[in-house]
Formats: sequence, structure tokens, C-alpha cells
Amino acid sequence: MKIILIGFMGSGKTTIGNILAKKLSMNIIDMDLEIENKFSISISEFFKLYGESYFREKEVELLNELLKKDNIIISTGGGIIESKKAIDILKVEKNVIWLNASNNTIINRLESELDNRPKLKDKENIELVVESLMSSRYKKYKDSSSIIIDVNDKNIEEVVGEILVYIDKNVLL
Ligand code: S3P
Repeated sequence: MKIILIGFMGSGKTTIGNILAKKLSMNIIDMDLEIENKFSISISEFFKLYGESYFREKEVELLNELLKKDNIIISTGGGIIESKKAIDILKVEKNVIWLNASNNTIINRLESELDNRPKLKDKENIELVVESLMSSRYKKYKDSSSIIIDVNDKNIEEVVGEILVYIDKNVLL
């Protein structure tokens, strides 16, 4: 089985992915970490040195590579759906879970972790940046996902629990 987690920065992809991987004895790959390790630089440095469009190309390449594996949970970067190629790949995949968080949830969660998030480097206007990014991305997350989980007002265990129920009921295949 493969599980692909998508969603905005701060929606919980990595934390939830790690817990699920332990519970299900699956491998977890965090795509940002993988890119950082591959290029031996931080995501912020990657954006500065090579630009966002090159980052998006590398994300798609890595996604394609990872999808060849089995028994894997893929925690994507929040902007994976910025690339049309990635959306097309995700659309035909099963088990693409969108962790859907509201702007407020995201802003509250991200306030303490803006570093190494180049898309949020305008720290003064974080609310406007999140609003504008989310409005341009919302439909892309929706189109790319096969399951949507509302993560607002839920703790990590509750979200993990919902995913486990989907597995029990064979909604995730
Ligand atoms: C990005 C999200 C980040 C990372 C990069 C760009 C985005 O991943 O890939 O900073 O454009 O939303 P997280 O969602 O893991 O923070």
C-alpha cells in the first residue's frame, strides 16, 4: 500500500505521516527532507540558489521515483500541487489524502516555525500570504486528492484515527 499526504504547510503531513508509518510498519519519506539530503542544502537555500520552478521540477521527479516503491507513506511538500505535472500524477493515484486545514489553523500553527519556509519569508504579512496562497491552491488540493480530512480542531491522534478507520473499511487500498 502507498499513502500520499498532501496539504498546506502546517497541516500536519510530516507528523501524521511519521505516526502512521510506525503504527502500520510502513516506510515514511518526507519529500522536503529527501531533497535537502540529495542536494545537501536546506529548502530555503535551494529556493535562493536555484529558484522555485527548479524546485518544482525536482519535486515531480522525486514523486515519480517514490511512487515506484511499495509500503510507503509519502509526505509531500505543501506546494507539490503548484506543478500541473504533479497534479496529473496525483489524480490517478489512489490514497492521496488531503489534510485540509483552514487559514486560521495554519496561521496559528506556523507562527512559531517560519524559518526554512521560503514561501512564508514575508513574516510581517503572514496572514495575507497564507490567504492568497491558499486561495490559489485550494482547488488544486481538491482535484489532486482522493480523500479529504478536515484537520481543524482535531489533535494528531484523532486525524491518525480517522485514517486508520479508512484503512479498516478498505477505503484506502
Ligand atoms: C512549500 C512547502 C514546504 C516546502 C517548501 C515550499 C510550499 O513544505 O516544500 O518550503 O510551497 O507550500 P511543507 O509543507 O512540508 O512545509
